Amino acid sequence: MQMNHSALICACTPQLPRLRSMGPTRNFLTENFAIEGRNLNYSVTTRQGKFVPILKDCSLQIPSGQFWMLLGPNGSGKSTLLKILAGLLNPIDGFVYVKKPKSFVFQNPDHQVVMPTVEADVAFGLGKFNLTREEIRSRVGKALNAVGMSDYLQRPVQTLSGGQKQRVAIAGALAEACKVLLLDELTTFLDENDQIGVIKAVRNSLDSSKEVTALWVTHRLEELDYADGAIYMEDGRVIMHGDASGIMDFIKARQASYINQINA
Ligand SMILES: Nc1ncnc2c1ncn2[C@@H]1O[C@H](COP(=O)(O)OP(=O)(O)O)[C@@H](O)[C@H]1O
Ligand SMILES: [Mg+2]
Repeated sequence: MQMNHSALICACTPQLPRLRSMGPTRNFLTENFAIEGRNLNYSVTTRQGKFVPILKDCSLQIPSGQFWMLLGPNGSGKSTLLKILAGLLNPIDGFVYVKKPKSFVFQNPDHQVVMPTVEADVAFGLGKFNLTREEIRSRVGKALNAVGMSDYLQRPVQTLSGGQKQRVAIAGALAEACKVLLLDELTTFLDENDQIGVIKAVRNSLDSSKEVTALWVTHRLEELDYADGAIYMEDGRVIMHGDASGIMDFIKARQASYINQINA
């Protein structure tokens, strides 16, 4: 369900979300958020008719221009929440607002790039804007610069590494002036160099534009170093929301206690 921002704020005023809030999270009910979800629920019904809740009353708020990460164990609902924010799934109730245009970047780098060269791929989505050749060239150049791929303009995409393909996909979204990037475990299939390259590309894109907001799903704790804020989920619920270093400490303590239990 998509609503405009003012409608979201009116509809949600009587009931504040049940969040455990930490650190620099801003006040609720301000207009300065690029992404907001309130009391989102999502479920599926199996073929046997069994009702399976997947997201349970999830709320989140991500300030404009910031790089946030969404963490949680496998199966905790991260991808489902991201797909709801992207508009690929509809929640059964709750409210969602995401600034537009928005772009969802998938996990598998080979599903991202469609054109034969880097330049053609980044320019691919610009056809709908009625731009001059010069404007297209300029947008493609700026977007590739933001992700550190300027030197690859004429390269055939099949010669790129997985991380470079992800960066080209992100450049495509930036060229289209996307305000929100929704990125689902982009570094899963990448080696360490590529992984750092992609995350730095996102960080740099946000720092150079100030208008782009990114939500990055990951299971790698070390990636939290690049984040302005974070959200931690377990079993379909948002457990923590706010300061990235606080969430890192929380997850480390969780892991340590789990290891202690196993040893005991
Ligand atoms: N279409 C579906 N049908 C049944 N179960 C689903 C469906 N989509 C997701 N799930 C279940 O919901 C839970 C959350 O999935 P997902 O959002 O992919 O988690 P994550 O991305 O955190 O690993 C998982 O247990 C998954 O098996
Ligand atoms: Mg997932």
